[in-house]
Amino acid sequence: MDVLFLPDLRPTWDLEYDTAVVIDVLRATTTIVTALANGALEVVPVASLEEAMEFGKRGYLVCGERGGLKPPEFDLGNSPLDYTRDRVEGRKICITTSNGTKAILCALNFSKRVFLGSFLNLSTLAERLKNVEKIIIICAGNEKTVSFEDCLLAGAIVSKLVGADVSSNGPNESGKFFLSDSAMIVKYLWESVRFPNFHGVHAKKLRELGFSEDVEFAKSVDLYSVVPEFDGNKIVPTNR
Ligand code: MLT
Repeated sequence: MDVLFLPDLRPTWDLEYDTAVVIDVLRATTTIVTALANGALEVVPVASLEEAMEFGKRGYLVCGERGGLKPPEFDLGNSPLDYTRDRVEGRKICITTSNGTKAILCALNFSKRVFLGSFLNLSTLAERLKNVEKIIIICAGNEKTVSFEDCLLAGAIVSKLVGADVSSNGPNESGKFFLSDSAMIVKYLWESVRFPNFHGVHAKKLRELGFSEDVEFAKSVDLYSVVPEFDGNKIVPTNR
């Protein structure tokens, strides 16, 4: 199991991973999990505001942020709390964010299967990963800097999958998971904290921007059981 603290770092192993898990706890993957849990049909991640507006012409809700804020011409920003059932059920969404959607788009470079993770879907995600051998967790980070909250969640996933029995870079009980150095780092980070305790730079910035409720909401462990998968075009819930 490998962890990239940022999408453009080099993976530990030069191989095609079985599954990549993209994490942007604050807030893109938390928001996308919420949108799908509340009945959105699909979420299309795009890199630019212009591309998002093009999807708007095709009936998509145009969503996302720059600098944490909703662009004026967009329907919704990047606050998970805005993605209520009455707003998103039965709707197709196009989203562009500063870091999260870029990480999702580049995850296909590492694996054909790309899942999205958040604290909201932690247990279901871990359950889905338990028989996967080569996993790479990709943290979106903030503008090319490492995110404490992303690393905490990466550690929670590694810890759930591996349990307490790995103290070195070796197989666990089942002989299945090998941990990269970065996977060990986040595992021990999580095990020293043990709950979503958000006090990183981006959490602080979001609170200053008035998004304290989003930060609190993103801590809701196992609120939903949806596991989003990106197929290269769109993100939809997956059952396998
Ligand atoms: C991102 O993708 O950069 C984040 O989700 C930013 C934000 O908190 O809106």
